[in-house]
Amino acid sequence: MLATLRICALLGFSLLATVASADYLNTRNEFRTTQPENVEALVVLVPEFEGTTAAPEGWPAATATQFQRALEAQAFTGALGEQFEILAPTGLEAQRLIALGVGAGQSLPRADAESVGAALATLLSTRASSTVAVNTRLLPQGSDHSSTVAALAHGADLANYRFDRYKSAPEPRPAQTYHWLAANPDAAEERYTELRGLAEGVFTARELTNLPGSDGYPAAFAEQVRSRLEPLGVKITVLTPKQILKEGMEALYGVSRGSQHGSHLLIAQWRGSEGAPIALVGKGITFDSGGYNLKLDANSLLAMTGDKAGAAAVAGTIEALARQRAPIHVVGVMPLSQNAVSGTAQLPGDVVTSASGITIEIANTDAEGRLVLADGIWYARKKFEPRVIVDIATLTGSKVRALGSDYAAVFSTDDTLVASVTEAGELTRERVWRLPLGPYEKIIDSTVADIRNTGSPGAQAGAVFLQRFAGDTPWVHIDMAGNGRHDAASQPPLIGATGYGVRLLTEWVKLYASAPTQ
Ligand code: BES
Ligand code: MN
Ligand code: ZN
Repeated sequence: MLATLRICALLGFSLLATVASADYLNTRNEFRTTQPENVEALVVLVPEFEGTTAAPEGWPAATATQFQRALEAQAFTGALGEQFEILAPTGLEAQRLIALGVGAGQSLPRADAESVGAALATLLSTRASSTVAVNTRLLPQGSDHSSTVAALAHGADLANYRFDRYKSAPEPRPAQTYHWLAANPDAAEERYTELRGLAEGVFTARELTNLPGSDGYPAAFAEQVRSRLEPLGVKITVLTPKQILKEGMEALYGVSRGSQHGSHLLIAQWRGSEGAPIALVGKGITFDSGGYNLKLDANSLLAMTGDKAGAAAVAGTIEALARQRAPIHVVGVMPLSQNAVSGTAQLPGDVVTSASGITIEIANTDAEGRLVLADGIWYARKKFEPRVIVDIATLTGSKVRALGSDYAAVFSTDDTLVASVTEAGELTRERVWRLPLGPYEKIIDSTVADIRNTGSPGAQAGAVFLQRFAGDTPWVHIDMAGNGRHDAASQPPLIGATGYGVRLLTEWVKLYASAPTQ
């Protein structure tokens, strides 16, 4: 099994070369067993130590002494996040010598390696050094050294992205060549290429989520995804408003009734293997005004360009899996609507019949995400008979109040599924925390229709609502409200969309597909 996967990965690697990566980065990565002499910046990664630690081998004595003195002067312990910089280091041609602490010495978790890579990229983005050598020789040299080096480069890639397509004169993107010291360069490069596919998926999710509402309307979102994914061999299908009505998806149709931009249903299918697919369903509200239940707070309203982050995460995940040529059958279903106000918009108190036949009282037009997802989940089940459904959505303010923006909420009756999503979250640091589904079935009871689209507590109401549409298909709901965007202060230099969910879902799909019991 493992051998087959390896061959597929190798095959994927050669196929990948034919599909160019989008142009988000100006950096280059080289993996070698030795490092070039004349780089402008030399970076040393230092694991946590007590007392003293040796300088990397092969340095002139004067450089090693200066390095040791700087460690002492700074009371450097190698803790994750520590750093210092020596300008014009004695005995080296490099203009700067940078030390970065990487934390616990025995092994370096992937996510820690990624944050070290990100810290490195962030620091270098304000330096003029165009060639950088990264000495990884103090890191544990075990079998996972190649993965660690690849994760460092991946972290740097994620941090070097800028959303600048609306700048008339964008600042040049960081343009370093990184020379990574790797014990096994081929293995490091192979793993890096895989992670680069993942990063491309994250960039796609960020671009889509960041699109202003007037540019990222349903049909435009669908075409953006088509142009990115079709060349990778992903099958794209787009249903128009007319086709949506014909299928009986009134709940999805209705959310765009107040907008000149009708609802669309976007389907992206990566058939990396035969058999029943894994289905991912993402909320794609291209702008959420609230509808007649208009959002009254200016900042909340402004943030609602990001209400398509769930669909963007699904698109990015399919892209990543396709770029990696993953031997997995996965289908992304993205219901897209603009929740606008006008004379034709649906009204509070309206009743719609979803494609499943369940009637819904629209108690609040601002609880629109679950309406589009209801038909999205129905479509996924009806057309693909998936082995499992994961839906992901910026669904409720209630989730943000409960968990904030670092964790997403996860809901399911299936403990094994929750465990695997949690594991993927820990691995990628796109973390999730479980909230209860029951006994909340009654909170969405309606006096006029089968169910209503609100209830309290709010996050649970959203979850039990969706549960009705998942029926007996194994299902997880991820409420990622608040995770999809952050402001400048929280994590410079990344502003706006985080691409949350792509790394979580891509890793989860692989965990799930390779689990022997499922
Ligand atoms: N898109 C919002 C949820 C949201 C809030 C996402 C904050 C990201 C940050 C969703 O459509 C919404 O408006 N939910 C309402 C539902 C309520 C009216 C029942 C909410 O949670 O307040
Ligand atoms: Mn809303
Ligand atoms: Zn919304």
